[in-house]
Amino acid sequence: MVPQGGRTGLVGGAITDPDSLICDLGALDRIEEIDPVTGVAVVQAGVTLSALQEAARAFGLDPAIDLAARGSATVGGLISTNAGGIMAFRAGVMRHRVLGLEVVLPDGSIFCDLTRVMKTSAGYDLKHLFIGAEGTLGIATRAVIKLEPLVPARATALVGVDNAAAAQRVVQYFLSRGGMSLRAAEIMWRRYAQTTSAALGFDHDQLPLGANCLLALEVGGDTFEAASAALESGLAEIYDEDGLKDGVVASSMQQADRIWRVREDTEILYRLHPQAPSFDVSVPGGAIDGYVERLGPTLKAIDPQLDPYIFGHLADGNLHIVLNVQGPLPTPVQQRVEDVLYAPLGELGGCFSAEHGIGLKKRAAFERYADPVKQTLSRAVKGLLDPKGLLNPGKVVDPF
Ligand code: LAC
Ligand code: ZN
Repeated sequence: MVPQGGRTGLVGGAITDPDSLICDLGALDRIEEIDPVTGVAVVQAGVTLSALQEAARAFGLDPAIDLAARGSATVGGLISTNAGGIMAFRAGVMRHRVLGLEVVLPDGSIFCDLTRVMKTSAGYDLKHLFIGAEGTLGIATRAVIKLEPLVPARATALVGVDNAAAAQRVVQYFLSRGGMSLRAAEIMWRRYAQTTSAALGFDHDQLPLGANCLLALEVGGDTFEAASAALESGLAEIYDEDGLKDGVVASSMQQADRIWRVREDTEILYRLHPQAPSFDVSVPGGAIDGYVERLGPTLKAIDPQLDPYIFGHLADGNLHIVLNVQGPLPTPVQQRVEDVLYAPLGELGGCFSAEHGIGLKKRAAFERYADPVKQTLSRAVKGLLDPKGLLNPGKVVDPF
């Protein structure tokens, strides 16, 4: 039985084979309640992120989780992959947004822990077993999601910087400045930014595409004008000392949305390189430049034509790396690429899967790079909850 949400996952967690029974959660699409006093939403698993955002907005609230696939990704899928997205550096990943959870277990019993409070200290917090389990331990059907006050307006800028360290100085400045609400800090290395912006019809006069990296910043405010003014004055203050190369502050919400497409329209890459191999890693902030600088030469040593597109969520170190070739790679090449990308992460304190999960595509990597005791425990947990391997078989781990 394969549970499916919006099917926008990137590691094959919802893939079926001819014997699978698909459990489509799409019909569980009710927002049961928004409780503005407690600041929570009670939602069914098939509700899309954008539907939840919209419903919360009517109460001046926001789920404080956001990502490019908002229109299709469902709450159940977000929970099952422990999704992160754009605002994780501020409000945490999905694990931090879920206060309560209802899950149907493989034996038909229902785990029901629909608490609405932040503080529970009542033994094992078992809901966390199901968050990020990709539907292999149970099927999430309902959740209580913590909401935050809505920021009514936002302003967007795109600035050119030399490297991640320079971008991080900009981020630190905005984070430390009182009254400034930084909502997003997304980075794109040149090859990515040039490719998506060209496909979207931007040229060098409109965006600072000559810089080594582009940093997309979003700042919230009471009005668009106030947010734009705060963003502009902040950038002016640090322009020289922090090595900013050039930049643009969106003059309207429409322009902001167009700029965001440069970052979010990753489909452009997959049209150029069907099934392009893609990777999703977490790298601690101080190690990002070193990690990225190593990638070019080490990938070229595997195959001279490899030239990665690199982009992602700078403020939490979550980088997405997409290769400029049609996928899938032959297994030995895939393994060498994974070694280049994943081997340094353990020692750095990063992770070989940041926000997309393990699914099918990262199973081999899980076996090579996850802590051996974690692997043993994971199989034991799977064996305990789903001894017959009924739920999402083949994904994440096999039961003992
Ligand atoms: C994003 C997806 C790939 O950040 O996680 O666009
Ligand atoms: Zn992402």
